[in-house]
Amino acid sequence: MAYDVVVIGAGPGGYVCAIRAAQLGMRVAVVEKGKTLGGTCLNIGCIPSKALLYASEMFEEAGHGLGALGVVVAPPKLDLGAMMKHKDDTVAANVNGVAFLFKKNKIDSLQGEGRIAAPGRVVVKGADGAETTCEAKAIVVATGSDVARLPGIDIDEKQIVSSTGALALAKPPKSLIVVGAGVIGLELGSVWRRLGAEVTVVEFLDRILPGMDGEVAKQTQRLLEKQGFKFHLSHKVAAVEKTAKGVKATIEPAAGGAPLTLEAEVVLVAIGRRPYTQGLGLEALGVAMERGQVKIDDHFATNVPTVYAIGDVVRGPMLAHKAEDEGMALAEILAGQAGHVNTDVIPGVVYTSPEVASVGKTEEELKAAGVAYAVGKFPFTANGRARAMRHTDGFVKVLADAASDRVLGVHIVGFGAGEMIHEAAVLMEFGGSSEDLARTCHAHPTMSEAVKEAALAVAKRAIHV
Ligand code: FAD
Ligand code: NAI
Repeated sequence: MAYDVVVIGAGPGGYVCAIRAAQLGMRVAVVEKGKTLGGTCLNIGCIPSKALLYASEMFEEAGHGLGALGVVVAPPKLDLGAMMKHKDDTVAANVNGVAFLFKKNKIDSLQGEGRIAAPGRVVVKGADGAETTCEAKAIVVATGSDVARLPGIDIDEKQIVSSTGALALAKPPKSLIVVGAGVIGLELGSVWRRLGAEVTVVEFLDRILPGMDGEVAKQTQRLLEKQGFKFHLSHKVAAVEKTAKGVKATIEPAAGGAPLTLEAEVVLVAIGRRPYTQGLGLEALGVAMERGQVKIDDHFATNVPTVYAIGDVVRGPMLAHKAEDEGMALAEILAGQAGHVNTDVIPGVVYTSPEVASVGKTEEELKAAGVAYAVGKFPFTANGRARAMRHTDGFVKVLADAASDRVLGVHIVGFGAGEMIHEAAVLMEFGGSSEDLARTCHAHPTMSEAVKEAALAVAKRAIHV
C-alpha cells in the first residue's frame, strides 16, 4: 500500500488533516488503534462531556430556574440511564460522521496500532496481531494525549476515576473529591454537583483555572462556590485510600503544614494530560522530544525528514480546535501551500455554568511582558437581554494596547460566553482595535452588546453603566 500521507491517530488533529489532504488530491490513510474514529475528543472528551453538561444543566434549570420565569413544573426526577444514552447517542453520531467523511473523501481507514518502522514506512498491528506495512511520502503523528496520573494512586475508573470514568458513573455519588481545579475538574465537577453530589475541589495552586485571566478565575470561583462547590486551594493530594464507604484522601498544604483528611464516595483525578507516544517507535527513529512532547518546527516537521506531528502530542494548548487547525495547516503545507496557525488567537472555553471564555493575552501576561494596556469592562447585570433571561452573572473584559488600541485579549464569564468569544477572535485575527469593536453595530437586545460596551469602556465611554 503506497500513500502520499499516512496519519497515525484519528482524533480531531488526525482526521481533519486527512480530510484536508484528500481534498487537496493526496492519497491518504489513517491508522487508528481505537474501535471508533474521532479520538479522545469525540469518544471520551469534548463531545460526551458537553452532552452531560447540557443535560445536567437542563436538570438543574428544571429544578431551580424555571419557577422565577413563571414556569411551574414538578420537581424533576433524574433518569441517569436516559442521560447516559443521550451522551452515547451523541458520541455515536459524531464518530459515525467521521467514518462517513472518510468514505466520502476516499480515505483508507486502517484499524490497528501504528508504528513508524522507518521514514516512509508505517507498520500497522491489528487486534489479531497481524502486521501490515504501508509506504508513505509523509507520516503525520497525531496520537494525542492520555490522563496524567498521581504517583501511588491507582485509577480504577469506579471509585478513583479519571475523566473517562467520570463520564460513565453508574449513579451520582453523594460526594465527589476533585483533584485539580482545571478545565476537566470544574466541568465534570459541575455535572455531578448538578445531579446531586457534594463537590470538593483540591487544587495545588492558590487559584483555579491556571492560564485564564486572574480576575475571571476569581469571579468563576465565587460563582461556583455560590452553586455549592467547596475549594481547598494551595493543597495537594498526598494519598488516596479506598474505604468500606468510598475513598479517603489525605491532603497537605502546598507550602507544608498539617495534613487534612477528606472522605467521599468517588475521587476524580484531573491534574492534566500527557502527550501519548507509546509504541510509536519514535526513540528508535531518533525523533527529538521536549518535555514529553514531539519537538516540531514552525511547519510541524520533526527532526526526521518526512515525519510530522500535530495536536496534543506537540507544544501548545491541548485543545481540539487547535489540533484541527494544525491538521488543516499541515495538509496545506504538504500540498505546497502556505498553511499557518496563529497561536496568538486560539480561544479557550470552559463549559461551566456560566461559561468562561478567553482569547489572547491575560492581564497577568501583559504585566509580565511589560506591555502598557487599557482595560474596558462591562457587567451582564447592566445588559437588558441578560436580565430578561435571568443570566446576569459575569462580565466582559477587553484588554487593548495603550498606544495603538489593538485588542490583545478578551475574557468573558457569562451565559453563552463560548459563542460570544468568536467576535473577539475574528477581530483579533484581523488586528482590530477596541474602537473597531465599539463602532461595530451589535443587535439589540443581545448578550453580545456587553462585548461592544466593554470595548467602549476601554476609552471610558460605555453607555449603560
Ligand atoms: P486525540 O483526540 O487524543 O486522538 C489521538 C488518537 O490517536 C486516539 O484516537 C488514539 O487512540 C490514537 N492513537 C494513539 N496512538 C496510536 C497508535 N500508535 N496507533 C494508532 N492510533 C493511535 N478540547 C476542546 O477543545 N474542547 C473541549 O470541550 C474539550 N473537552 C475535553 C473533555 C475531556 C474530558 C477531555 C479528556 C479532553 C477534552 N478536550 C477538549 C481536549 C481534546 O479532547 C484534545 O485536545 C483533542 O482530542 C486532541 O486531539 P488530537 O487529535 O491531538 O488527539
Ligand atoms: P488542567 O491542566 O486544565 O488542570 C489541572 C489542574 O490540576 C491544574 O490547576 C494544576 O495546578 C492541578 N494539579 C496538578 N497536580 C496537582 C496535585 N497533585 N494536587 C492538586 N492539584 C494539582 O488539566 P485537566 O483539567 O486535567 O485537563 C486536561 C486538558 O484537557 C487541558 O489541557 C485542557 O486544555 C483539556 N480540556 C479542555 C476542555 C475545554 O476546552 N473545555 C475541557 C476539558 C479538558
